[in-house]
Amino acid sequence: MGDWRKTDWRAKPRVQMPDYTDTAALTAVEAQLAKYPPLVFAGESRRLKKHLGAAGRGEAFLLQGGDCAESFEQFSADGIRDTFKVMLQMAMVLTYGAKVPVIKVGRMAGQFAKPRSAPTETVNGVELPSYRGDIINELAFTPEARIPDPAKMLQAYTQAAATLNLIRAFSTGGYADVHQVHAWTLGFTEGRKAERYRELANRITDTLDFMSAAGVNRDTAHTLQSVEFYTSHEALLLEYEEALTRLDSTSGNWLAGSGHLIWIGDRTRQPDGAHVEFCRGVLNPIGLKCGPSMTPDDLKVLMARLNPNNEAGRLTLITRFGAGKVGEHLPRLVRAVQEEGANVVWVCDPMHGNTIKSSTGYKTRPFESVLREVREFFGVHASEGTVPGGVHFEMTGQDVTECTGGVHAVTDEDLSDRYHTACDPRLNASQSLELAFLVAEELTSLRNARQAREAG
Ligand code: PEP
Ligand code: CO
Repeated sequence: MGDWRKTDWRAKPRVQMPDYTDTAALTAVEAQLAKYPPLVFAGESRRLKKHLGAAGRGEAFLLQGGDCAESFEQFSADGIRDTFKVMLQMAMVLTYGAKVPVIKVGRMAGQFAKPRSAPTETVNGVELPSYRGDIINELAFTPEARIPDPAKMLQAYTQAAATLNLIRAFSTGGYADVHQVHAWTLGFTEGRKAERYRELANRITDTLDFMSAAGVNRDTAHTLQSVEFYTSHEALLLEYEEALTRLDSTSGNWLAGSGHLIWIGDRTRQPDGAHVEFCRGVLNPIGLKCGPSMTPDDLKVLMARLNPNNEAGRLTLITRFGAGKVGEHLPRLVRAVQEEGANVVWVCDPMHGNTIKSSTGYKTRPFESVLREVREFFGVHASEGTVPGGVHFEMTGQDVTECTGGVHAVTDEDLSDRYHTACDPRLNASQSLELAFLVAEELTSLRNARQAREAG
């Protein structure tokens, strides 16, 4: 990216970004952030890119998940631990189904800025600017709370650093031991309601028993007690992203130091806009959200701009159409990718096309629709002969009631009990794990079909 500068996005049309009124304060915050250490290291982003390249070929599978929006108020060690924990459980179940390594990427340690469908919000006849995430303004419905405050970027940075620090400690400090992770999963399958998942869980138990009988245990195999865990977020607030962008001395390329993977949202993917301009110049793996309005030509232009050298693992296409609509929209994008001979990782986000208003007035997502979109995603890739490379969920390890359904059924009436999200509704721990079991079943059938083809 010889001709690219990290400030070039400033000359491009921007959408979904705040207009800071106190420009002196903004400049001071940017200067401060630019002096802080980056949160991630270029070698880690390169390694993630290599893993994603494998996912594009069906030799690995991506699990990306976490909050819709991280919150300053709900920031706690328990919250981080619980999400990390349920992601490890999901990853283990998925590994068993896919029989390939599962790449674990949190929507964590930087997922603070939110694009909104409307610039303002009206309550009881009062109209105020929309809430745009804790890195920008506040959720409270008052004029002061909704003023964008650049100092919030410093708090977001601090929270991201502390989150990543804890994740790194959990990843290697013994917390991620496979036996422990599996023991938690057995807890989920204990009740009568989760009976249908017990068989798969028992097969994992047998495998672990066999391995330890054969002498493969936590003392002999380091990989059984540590994990690689990566961070990701939407690169929406470009002042924050630019300030954390650093030159990687090893390669001479630029790294977005705010997280391992960054993605471009469905509302900010204009080929000539600021967000694409920023992302095209950094070496990180890039995600691109693809909603129903993405045309094959849009996608071709974006692929050329974001991955001109067709590098494997560089570009992840995160599709989000809504249950019942995948068959209408995904095939034309799959064909566009094939026409270009482009290397991409296909990932399903079954959350953002399935948000509805419940009968009790809450924004929710039915578990059934989430599952249905995942199944349709697998179905289209099976008929097109392409590789489903991963899944992307809004989820939490906490026992919230934000999405309806699942084995421990959450009803419309239950939503008010523990509805804590600052933005979109998340799957709770049990719904997340259940979904992992169901995706594992899809992955198993996929594998069986592939083996049957290869056999004859
Ligand atoms: C998100 O992932 O939080 C999001 C806003 O997604 P999208 O850009 O796909 O709407
Ligand atoms: Co969301």
